[in-house]
Amino acid sequence: MPATIIVGLQWGDEGKGKTTDLLAEQVAMVVRYQGGDNAGHTVVSGDEVLKLHLVPSGILYSHIVSVIGPGVVVNPTTLIAELDMLASRGIDTARLRVSASAHLVLPFHVAIDRAREARLAGDGAAVGTTGRGVGPAYADRASRIGLRMGDLLEPTAVTARIGRLVDERNAELARLGSDERWSAADIGEAMTAWGARLRPHIADTTALVQGALRRGDHVLLEGAQGTLLDLDHGTYPYVTSSSPVAGGACTGGGIGPLQVDEVLGVMKAYATRVGAGPFPTELTDGIGESIAERGKEYGTTTGRRRRVGWFDAVPLRYAVAVNSISSIMLNKLDILSGIESLELCVAYEIDGRRIADWPSSAEVLARARPIYESFEGWLEPIHGVRTLADLPETARRYVTGLEELAGVPIVLVSVGPERTQTIERAWRPMRHRPAIPA
Ligand code: GDP
Ligand code: IMO
Ligand code: MG
Repeated sequence: MPATIIVGLQWGDEGKGKTTDLLAEQVAMVVRYQGGDNAGHTVVSGDEVLKLHLVPSGILYSHIVSVIGPGVVVNPTTLIAELDMLASRGIDTARLRVSASAHLVLPFHVAIDRAREARLAGDGAAVGTTGRGVGPAYADRASRIGLRMGDLLEPTAVTARIGRLVDERNAELARLGSDERWSAADIGEAMTAWGARLRPHIADTTALVQGALRRGDHVLLEGAQGTLLDLDHGTYPYVTSSSPVAGGACTGGGIGPLQVDEVLGVMKAYATRVGAGPFPTELTDGIGESIAERGKEYGTTTGRRRRVGWFDAVPLRYAVAVNSISSIMLNKLDILSGIESLELCVAYEIDGRRIADWPSSAEVLARARPIYESFEGWLEPIHGVRTLADLPETARRYVTGLEELAGVPIVLVSVGPERTQTIERAWRPMRHRPAIPA
């Protein structure tokens, strides 16, 4: 039962899209397990640059079954736009399946997300969400008043539920000072149209995933966001509303913990964060500016400039533990070329004490001052390097330093956005693993 979970170890945008696309060649199925179109995953293959928000990053391979699992919240308008975009580039999406249990992000969720953020901004307390309605949609799911992909197939059967939901959300919009309103009839009509278009894709995806695992097919589970944005483990309230951690792949993908044989953590060689919230290693100087420019650190979903900082190993140890990370892919090492001295945060000073553990409180983290270990940098570009031996000695030392702090092997090192710009360090290709008989 070979299932591999790909999970972000930082605040998102670690390069999960590149990692998933790279490994997808060797598997039969790729499953998105949480989040919604707040995610922006970039896949680069030759001249093809794909920015995906909902469709799993294995879509470029014709042999892959792409699955959007029950833990994802789906905005049908975005999904249809993404399918159209892929079709216009000649990419076949016929094998995409979306869980009938996945909840819908509806237009009023987006309006509420934005209205709430606007109100919080007045108090200087905005989360800096992507404004995609993901939080409000998950809230309705937890409140058991949400609507699901399966409801698109028979919207008239849920007319009463649509009416109650629209009433509640219109009242909420009024409370938030917004003058946007929706009618149940308009939502019902939109659902009928979405259903007509998406019907061939809607399925019981848990049965599909379990069937693949029974056959011994390798399944890849693609996380969105990252561990430090996790609703339970991140810097609450500056988090997203789902569980990007490996446990979320079980609930949101429809697999059991013992069906997982590898949890691959994805991190980049420095840190970025979009939106508000404490970020102890943030760089507001010229080095930060130059990393942001060279790393093209602008959000795939919102275009916002990402905040940039030195690598922080304090949350890394935490992320390795809560995800039971078995191996790591390190991305964007090339972006650090040209910096004479690299700082790596190994502990915090909080209220005069040295702290090596990730604090659960955003208020405490906001008082953390990073304690750095310095690493000699390298000046030459490394985009063209394909073997560890050809990396500059100082780059190898930086990778080893990160690995020692993580406590698990860094098996893949990426030196550019392309699939081919990857150094296989200690990677055992998945297709060579024996499948366990059912
Ligand atoms: P995700 O959300 O985790 O999938 O990451 P994003 O796609 O939002 O952001 C990562 C960006 O870095 C994308 O534009 C990738 O094409 C790019 N990228 C990934 N790996 C590398 C790398 O090793 N080097 C460089 N220069 N870019 C990379
Ligand atoms: P990928 O999958 C980086 C951040 C937002 C905000 C917080 C809450 O591309 O790594 P939300 O819209 O989810 O309610 O916003 O989470 N955020 C991300 N940051 N990468 C992402 O996705 C993100 N998805 C949400 O910026 O701080
Ligand atoms: Mg992203």
